[in-house]
Amino acid sequence: MARRAAPRPQRLRDLLVRLGPLFVKIGQFLALRPDILPQEYCDELLQLVDQSPAETWETVHAILTRELGAPPEEIFRTIRHRPLAAGSIAQVHLARLRNGRTVAVKVQRPDLEQRVDRDLRRVRWLMRAVDWSGVSPFASPDEVVAELERWLRQELDFTRELRNQQRMYDATTRDDIVRVPRPYAHLSTARVLTGEYLPGLPLSKVMRHVREGSQGLLDRYQLDTGILAERLIETALDQIFRIRFFHADMHPGNLIAMRDNVIGLVDFGLTDVLDPTVERRQADFLSAIYNNDVNGMYRSVVQILVEGPHANLESFRRDFFNETNRFVAERSDRGWSGRLPGEDRSQIADYMVAVVRVARVHDMRLPASVLSMYRTLLASESVAHQLRSDADLGTVGRGFFRGLQIEKTLSDFDPNSVIEWLMQINDLVRSGPRNVQQVLSDLAEGRFVLPVRSHESEQSRRASSQRARMISLAVVSVALAMLLSGRGDASVAGVPLAPFLWAALVLDLAAMFLIWRRLE
Ligand SMILES: Nc1ncnc2c1ncn2[C@@H]1O[C@H](COP(=O)(O)OP(=O)(O)O)[C@@H](O)[C@H]1O
Ligand SMILES: [Mg+2]
Repeated sequence: MARRAAPRPQRLRDLLVRLGPLFVKIGQFLALRPDILPQEYCDELLQLVDQSPAETWETVHAILTRELGAPPEEIFRTIRHRPLAAGSIAQVHLARLRNGRTVAVKVQRPDLEQRVDRDLRRVRWLMRAVDWSGVSPFASPDEVVAELERWLRQELDFTRELRNQQRMYDATTRDDIVRVPRPYAHLSTARVLTGEYLPGLPLSKVMRHVREGSQGLLDRYQLDTGILAERLIETALDQIFRIRFFHADMHPGNLIAMRDNVIGLVDFGLTDVLDPTVERRQADFLSAIYNNDVNGMYRSVVQILVEGPHANLESFRRDFFNETNRFVAERSDRGWSGRLPGEDRSQIADYMVAVVRVARVHDMRLPASVLSMYRTLLASESVAHQLRSDADLGTVGRGFFRGLQIEKTLSDFDPNSVIEWLMQINDLVRSGPRNVQQVLSDLAEGRFVLPVRSHESEQSRRASSQRARMISLAVVSVALAMLLSGRGDASVAGVPLAPFLWAALVLDLAAMFLIWRRLE
């Protein structure tokens, strides 16, 4: 059975290519949805390149003139007639502004709305036929069509895309691992989108070179695929959980490998946000995964899911724990970087897909934005993997969530209480060195805990409060060092203070070391 089924993914890919450009675009969309299509299909579809014959320059000229209100030669200093890229929805022309800046002008093809309508009808028929044949790889054909339709309609509205691009541009201006093209609103309309040109090599090309084993071009651009892969996953996590606004179509055609391994992001037709509650629960879920906290995982996951009319919470729970226990057991066998040679996805990515599928089976629904989020996370890992990198969601994500937890703790740290603290220490030091020791041993033994707003599970909370203690110890170290440098020759009742302060500092550092060891 498995052998006979093997060429099917390729047949689906060929079929989409035969059906026309828009279907190729649909294939790219599906490639990033392992929850609705089995993995082997996704991998096959990820190789689709959205390439169509270009419109003639006369057509493009007419569209630009109509949309921008003047012929392109009046607006731009120069514009290339041959497009840089031509996809199913638009083609991109390189141009130079009067001020000398190079821009990419994305021009929508004519009569797209009718074409989209027609092709959506064809998709509907196709899905029905595939469904009747009984070999449908799709989880739920009707839902898939509805989702495709929503997505395609969005893609046609460039004003939306411009807004998204501006928002992402603003959020990443200080980022040194990703670049977003600066948008030019006055040269953009519903059908034309002008943005700064990002020089580099599209990741789809990088992937092809990696597959073919040709290093030449990669060397010429001084690209390190390992760094690119890691940054790709890092930026996906960063957009979702720090920027809280993310690119939801991170397939290789929309990623550009730039100098110094900076990742250029283009094409903001599809972006998403997690609402704050969902975001917090999702972060809790992932933190719980990285902390091996099975109950915490379940608690946060049921808060994310919405029960459908046929939901069965009991059987969901059973299957969820089956998957989760298997994942945790495998993880403890194999460590965090859990991908064996020849495996396409890391364990953690596999686990995420499994959870999404289990939820689907029991009619526990994921909010659309959460699906988008998975799409982005899994896409970044999948591209990273095709770059032959060991970087995966397990290793990069663990580091990321640790950092995020420390940040959260720090941001919950009230500066006033720190100052109060420093004053207290000052008083304590003045009133007698024995009290300093008391406070330090309180700290070391955990009787002193900073108030940390915490919505994590017990296990994550323990880890957070350890980190909080670590941070407070660091504050105490600094305070002691300040006291030492400021009043190193002070004395209480004729007894010099410095040796006690030094002792306290040593104790404090020792306590920090102990906690650090425990955290490790
Ligand atoms: N600002 C840009 N800088 C460099 N290349 C770009 C830029 N914008 C688009 N491109 C290139 O043009 C291609 C098509 O543009 P894109 O916005 O992705 O259109 P589509 O919505 O048709 O996928 C991209 O894959 C990329 O290679
Ligand atoms: Mg694109």
